[in-house]
Amino acid sequence: MRITCVGGGPGGLYFAVLMKKADPRHQIRVVERNRPDDTFGFGVVFSDATMAGIADADSEAYQGIARHLVHWDDIEVHYRGEPITSTGHGFSGMSRHTLLRVLQEQACAAGVELLFEQEVSNLEALRDADLLVAADGSNSAIRQLLHDRIATTVDLRPNRFVWLGTTKPFPAFTFYFKHDAHGLWRVHAYQYGPDHSTFIVECGEQTWKAAGMDRATEPETAAFLERLFATELDGHSLITNRSIWRQFPTIRTTPWWSEKIVLLGDAAHTAHFSVGSGTRMAMEDAVALRDALVAGPDVPAALHAYEASRRPQVESLQRAAQASLQWFEDTERYMSLEPVQFVFSLLTRSLRITHEDMRARDPQFLARVDEYVAEQAERQVRLAAFAEASAPKKPDATYDPRASVAQGFSPAEQYVASGFSRTSAVPPPMFTPFRLRDLVLPNRVVVSPMCQYVADDGLVSDWHLVHLGSRALGGAGLVMAEMTDVSRDARISPWCAGLYRPEHAAAWKRIVDFVHRDTPAAIGMQLGHAGRKGATQQLWVADNEPLPDPEDRWPLMSASPIPFFPDRSPVPREMTRDDMDRAVADYARAAQLAQEAGFDLLEIHMAHGYLLASFISPLTNTRADEYGGSLENRMRFPLEVFDACRSVWPAAKPMSVRISAVDWAPGGMEPDDAVAVGQMLNAHGCDVVDVSAGQTVAEQRPVYGRLFQTPFADRIRHDVGMATMAVGNISSYMDVNTIIAAGRADLCLLARAHIFDPYWTRHAAWMLGYPLPWPGPYKSVERYTPRFEFRFTGDKGRD
Ligand SMILES: Cc1cc2nc3c(=O)[nH]c(=O)nc-3n(C[C@H](O)[C@H](O)[C@H](O)COP(=O)(O)OP(=O)(O)OC[C@H]3O[C@@H](n4cnc5c(N)ncnc54)[C@H](O)[C@@H]3O)c2cc1C
Ligand SMILES: Cc1cc2nc3c(=O)[nH]c(=O)nc-3n(C[C@H](O)[C@H](O)[C@H](O)COP(=O)(O)O)c2cc1C
Repeated sequence: MRITCVGGGPGGLYFAVLMKKADPRHQIRVVERNRPDDTFGFGVVFSDATMAGIADADSEAYQGIARHLVHWDDIEVHYRGEPITSTGHGFSGMSRHTLLRVLQEQACAAGVELLFEQEVSNLEALRDADLLVAADGSNSAIRQLLHDRIATTVDLRPNRFVWLGTTKPFPAFTFYFKHDAHGLWRVHAYQYGPDHSTFIVECGEQTWKAAGMDRATEPETAAFLERLFATELDGHSLITNRSIWRQFPTIRTTPWWSEKIVLLGDAAHTAHFSVGSGTRMAMEDAVALRDALVAGPDVPAALHAYEASRRPQVESLQRAAQASLQWFEDTERYMSLEPVQFVFSLLTRSLRITHEDMRARDPQFLARVDEYVAEQAERQVRLAAFAEASAPKKPDATYDPRASVAQGFSPAEQYVASGFSRTSAVPPPMFTPFRLRDLVLPNRVVVSPMCQYVADDGLVSDWHLVHLGSRALGGAGLVMAEMTDVSRDARISPWCAGLYRPEHAAAWKRIVDFVHRDTPAAIGMQLGHAGRKGATQQLWVADNEPLPDPEDRWPLMSASPIPFFPDRSPVPREMTRDDMDRAVADYARAAQLAQEAGFDLLEIHMAHGYLLASFISPLTNTRADEYGGSLENRMRFPLEVFDACRSVWPAAKPMSVRISAVDWAPGGMEPDDAVAVGQMLNAHGCDVVDVSAGQTVAEQRPVYGRLFQTPFADRIRHDVGMATMAVGNISSYMDVNTIIAAGRADLCLLARAHIFDPYWTRHAAWMLGYPLPWPGPYKSVERYTPRFEFRFTGDKGRD
């Protein structure tokens, strides 16, 4: 095969080496516009896992590279002047210059033809090649020539960064977070040779401009940063090499190939430097492309296979890189965190490394994190006072909810106390308590509200008792009742639960009483009004689809007369002031009924495009009166409803509001709006925001993924300074522990995970070795060793 690689960077060279070694009969040439020893950049970073992949791909090439690696395990974070070190991270650094020299030598030795100082500017190079590999970097000329066949998006990030070197050898991967008069500066520094380190300085645009860096030349930049980091550099100077301030471009392309041309490395994709180097991705691409070509001689089929195997890994890394770069864009937000939590937040920023990973990497550091979270939780709950009074007198005393009620403590409070007194070990973050007004939740797991569509004219039944009761027994600290409608015509479907008749309260009371009497959980009510999404079928029959027989439907109302599905949903009427008065009264009556039923927490549903959400989103609210227009106006009616409920709901009991932080649609709600909504809710006495997203409009384009909505909860928690609940694809206890320990949210809601396993929280406790007390009738399992066998053998249904 005749192969031309355009670009002699790490990707092009490594691919040429691997391919030539796979079959020396291949004629391979690398065309590079620079001279052999011209290079920009300083050190490249490889994780131990990447090096293991390189060793697997070709041991000779690996050995050539490995000889030059500087290895380190520690990450050192300098924050508020205090260094905190975490170990067990396993990375290596190496000079980019050396890496290219080693790869050039290996290419020559293998018989690859290297052509330097030749710039490729058209597809002529293809003429005599069976395959053209475009490894020509992020500004790829070949990709641009194929613009009609390959779509490219470039997301230019707002932060500014400059890539510098220094002669100071940093013993650990080092981060500095340093304020000066201009703002906050972040440094990412790592060693790549005995006396050389990379020193990347990053800051927000405002800081950059305030410091005059937008006008600084390369020497002026270096001089300014040398002064700023004089202490950190310890007398060493900074080295420049095309060290100009840049904005990171996240590049995504699709597809990665056309006929016999294929993109590789930065030409196809980039991922922020804070999750490891682009060098590593380019080299992993080279391995995948080699493997695909070796597997079969048909070039298009091989290129298809290369993209199919590699794209999911690249996209996953790009998602991690996105979370990581946003953390660095938003670092100012986290500057009030205590050092140990700040470092944990930094280490877990990409949402890839979990609390459990940290246990394997650095158990001592994790113990500090857990202690900090537990201390904070105890302080927040003011546990000490009542724990002493209520501690079980006998060491083997077990939790007895009835006795605790007799002692004057709520079951949750007593449970927390007994849990803490039964074990001297620090509880994992998810098993720390949390207080909202006078309500003490025994842990941070909440069963998310889930419509069951089996009520009869709003009346809940045994199904709801078992559904909520079993999950409360299953260990969650709080179980949320499904969206329960404030009037008959507020229902989503004819089978939705309601709180609009006195007997509804009595039916709910039976469930609430069970949860209070027989489980340690608290129980919350979610009040809602379907608005324009009313009169639809059950979720599992046809989600959001109108009832098939128009006779069965009832008149709908919404902020504006816009149907959910433009072609088939009924047009709702625009709410009048009378409608609003009626709805406010319905909500207040339902709140009173919820109090009669004994619920511990009241949530107002302002998410997912239902009535109140329809006011908040500009996509569904086009009103010309004082309830439309600005966000303040759009929040006016939802806040009236909130205030009406707050005024009848007991002051000692907390209220939450569920919001859709974003609409996942152009022109809709964005994270900044969600922060403003959080501020307004906070000002009105909302205790905790339940941060969901989307479902506002049918044409939404959500970006799903693990923990995909957690960043919104994180943002509101820090920017507003109020408690938040995170929800959405949280399914492992590792994730719950990580979210809580990093301070991204105060509570985690699980919907499908806790349906799948009603005892999810108990199982998490077992896995973590945390002695969650079992209720008396189930004590027999305390010495039972279960065998979890969740092994997947099907091919459908996984996220
Ligand atoms: C300023 C800067 C500094 C960086 N420093 C580091 C660092 O210290 N460590 C690190 O890990 N990563 C660094 N990176 C990122 C890193 O360079 C890339 O992610 C990585 O090298 C990708 O490898 P690649 O082979 O795909 O592309 P590149 O390394 O960019 O290689 C592409 C090659 O193609 C050549 N080329 C481009 N167009 C043509 C053409 N038309 N004809 C012929 N040749 C062409 C270029 O000269 C280049 O040698 C840096 C990036 C920038 C922008
Ligand atoms: C069957 C089902 C019913 C739901 N009903 C409600 C509801 O009544 N109120 C609500 O706010 N969210 C409802 N949701 C959304 C969930 O509360 C949750 O936000 C969503 O499922 C994402 O969480 P998960 O990834 O843990 O499942 C429902 C979800 C499911 C799966």
